[in-house]
Amino acid sequence: MPYHSEFAESAQATAPRLECAKKICVVAGTRPEAIKMAPLALAVRKDPRFELHLLATGQHREMLLEPLKFFDLEPDDFLGIMKKGQTLDYVTAAVLQETGKVFDRIRPDMVLVHGDTTTTFASALAAFYRGIPLGHVEAGLRSGDLGQPFPEEMNRLLADRICTLWFPPTPGAKANLLAEGCPEERITVTGNTVIDALLSAVERVEHPETPELTRIPEDLPLALLTAHRRETWGEGLERICDAVQELLRFEPHLWFVIPMHLNPVVRHVFVRRLGEEKRVILCDPLHYPDFVWAMRRSFVILSDSGGVQEEAPALSKPVLVMRNVTERPEAVEAGTALLVGTDPEKIVAETRKLLEDESYYRSFLGKNTKPFGDGSASAKILEALHGYFQENSIDIKD
Ligand code: UD1
Ligand code: UDP
Repeated sequence: MPYHSEFAESAQATAPRLECAKKICVVAGTRPEAIKMAPLALAVRKDPRFELHLLATGQHREMLLEPLKFFDLEPDDFLGIMKKGQTLDYVTAAVLQETGKVFDRIRPDMVLVHGDTTTTFASALAAFYRGIPLGHVEAGLRSGDLGQPFPEEMNRLLADRICTLWFPPTPGAKANLLAEGCPEERITVTGNTVIDALLSAVERVEHPETPELTRIPEDLPLALLTAHRRETWGEGLERICDAVQELLRFEPHLWFVIPMHLNPVVRHVFVRRLGEEKRVILCDPLHYPDFVWAMRRSFVILSDSGGVQEEAPALSKPVLVMRNVTERPEAVEAGTALLVGTDPEKIVAETRKLLEDESYYRSFLGKNTKPFGDGSASAKILEALHGYFQENSIDIKD
């Protein structure tokens, strides 16, 4: 077992509950929600003022359960709704209906949702229909374009419209909420819980468990690449593969690790286009600690992921964001992230410049490494919850 075990032991610790402990239902459905809600769920579990109910919708299956397990969390309810090739309609309806049933049964004092997925929106709606106070973790991010990220920009907007407490990660996200009329006294800037997760994972990462990762020659540069977004599907993915092939041709020492999302729509393209390339390691999604290892091992990260844009600055890694717009401008402003879209010429030019121009590479580093917080987001959220329950002696169980 290459990871430290003390963390798991301390995470197990639960203090005796206070009699008036408030039941907090933490909802997670996909990989990023699992990773970003894990530190918060652990904090709730350890705090005698609260009682944790972890509700996993199963919008994702393997990619949800694996990170929860890494953080020593087991769902109290697992709805298992995922189907191969699921549609947005199906996921929305299934999550709405099934989370509603759980809320009716467990009657939580507060539901906490995270981010911008279909799980986020549909479970928020189920809580709203029942008048259950709702907290939105990672509230307030806006790209300003309903088409990018799609449908996430809409999911996040709608969840923000119906919640009770807002937990934006940054002052910029808070400003977005204020501009939309959210009451300031219900908003707490917390930093992003992904930094809480990352810092605890970094401590536990020694060597990767994934055998494929041991193939990377120790002295050669590594680029880590992920892509999965709906707006990248099709032409975008083909263009990203064009860029990888160009880079392999121009840069004879460069290696790639591409952990492929389990969605067949994404995997088919990578396998068809890059499956025979010797310096490309195409693998299954990496377990979170191995992905953290790969981020640290890489000299550059190319990604359309939201979470990765937040983790890269904390690890002082340049990230080329393969999107046209981002709802996370802080990393771009901090200088560690650059928007390159899916234009092969731009991806190739920027990657090569980072490889070959040391001062350019350095210009990405050493700036603000904490645009998304310092790892204290979960603690701040718990204090805000406590404050809310003190001010509002509503007991929804009556
Ligand atoms: C979802 C979220 C997206 C988030 C991403 C994180 C929505 C609309 N999209 O997109 O915001 O960035 O998760 O990764 O909520 N699959 C598996 N096993 C898994 C996970 C997925 O087989 O553990 C396959 C299934 O065939 C599934 C497909 O991937 O039908 C798509 O999953 P889905 O959650 O609908 O969309 P994502 O693209 O993963
Ligand atoms: N991640 C992981 N294994 C991988 C790829 C990503 O553990 O193979 C982690 C990554 O560190 C980040 C999160 O998954 O914390 C991001 O998830 P994803 O890119 O699927 O979704 P998004 O953040 O774009 O919504």
